[in-house]
Amino acid sequence: RSVKSLTTASSSSLLRRGFSSESVPDRKVAVLGAAGGIGQPLALLMKLNPLVSTLSLYDIANTPGVAADVSHINTRSEVSGYVGEEQLGKALEGADVVIIPAGVPRKPGMTRDDLFNINAGIVKGLCQAIAKYCPNALVNMISNPVNSTVPIAAEVFKKAGTYDEKRLFGVTTLDVVRAKTFYAGKANVPVAEVNVPVVGGHAGITILPLFSQATPKANLSDGDINALTKRTQDGGTEVVEAKAGKGSATLSMAYAGAIFADACLKGLNGVPDVVECSFVQSTVTELPFFASKVRLGKNGVEEVLGLGPLSDYEKEGLEKLKPELQSSIEKGIKFANQ
Ligand code: NAD
Ligand code: LMR
Repeated sequence: RSVKSLTTASSSSLLRRGFSSESVPDRKVAVLGAAGGIGQPLALLMKLNPLVSTLSLYDIANTPGVAADVSHINTRSEVSGYVGEEQLGKALEGADVVIIPAGVPRKPGMTRDDLFNINAGIVKGLCQAIAKYCPNALVNMISNPVNSTVPIAAEVFKKAGTYDEKRLFGVTTLDVVRAKTFYAGKANVPVAEVNVPVVGGHAGITILPLFSQATPKANLSDGDINALTKRTQDGGTEVVEAKAGKGSATLSMAYAGAIFADACLKGLNGVPDVVECSFVQSTVTELPFFASKVRLGKNGVEEVLGLGPLSDYEKEGLEKLKPELQSSIEKGIKFANQ
């Protein structure tokens, strides 16, 4: 597709993204759960992404309206809406990236694990369809509990004979987004310059921000680091309580999901040095899945990066999170093999 057919703004942003040629590859992105609280703003943000040529929006209800609405935006991608299981195959066929925010969100007083009974089945069904219709797609799992839904997806793909550990990602970008925001506020540094890796998993104490590696450096007290860590770990709960029964993070999650999907697309397109934290199959610790920095490339995960030097506080946090993360992983594996 000729860059000339794009707007000046998008073609200059393509060039900033590292394309020197006159063309940008066609890429299909599918969003499963596209009519939901996350799905709708995520559909909007993916429609704004010039790396997307086809945007496929799937849900069990209400997708035609969302797709019609988003399709009027004058950006590159062609938008299609699909509704109901009989249209799932069409929604997925040819997808390069599949983003999954399908499933129920928490209400106050619930843990993410309380969502397991409903969301495990939803994710299992969707992953069976991915194995059938787009086995080579990069899968971005947003549905909670991520610590279990990613292992479920892996088992479903193994059963179907399509599993490639390089192509399955638990989306933990929101933890990084929060850690950056909270750190910038406390350290009084420009938020746009902040980097903070967040490792482990995506629930409570399994979320381990590594503020000792945060940049720009700041002289924060142990008390400050402890407060920042707790706020990052409880960021989801902060939103659930503020929404008071009307769901969990949707807008910040859509932003985070769009950043992670963009990183996947850049990797697929051969842009060098694309690194994001994600919950992936891992040998960084003894746990089979673990979130850490990941280098993205033409086949998905190019390299799972190590943890780097940890403070004593972070070492302690790492040991504390392992039993919970291990048991959530096992719960997912067991469910998928029932
Ligand atoms: P929501 O209820 O607003 O939307 C969920 C959507 O999924 C609905 O439109 C529903 O129709 C759809 N859906 C249900 N079953 C489906 C199926 N089988 N196929 C396709 N679509 C289906 O919920 P939400 O606020 O968008 O949250 C969605 C999920 O994302 C929840 O599990 C939530 O906990 C999780 N979440 C994860 C993160 C993260 O950081 N990874 C952050 C926020 C929320
Ligand atoms: C989040 O971190 O916001 C999500 O995992 C949703 C939740 O339930 O907290």
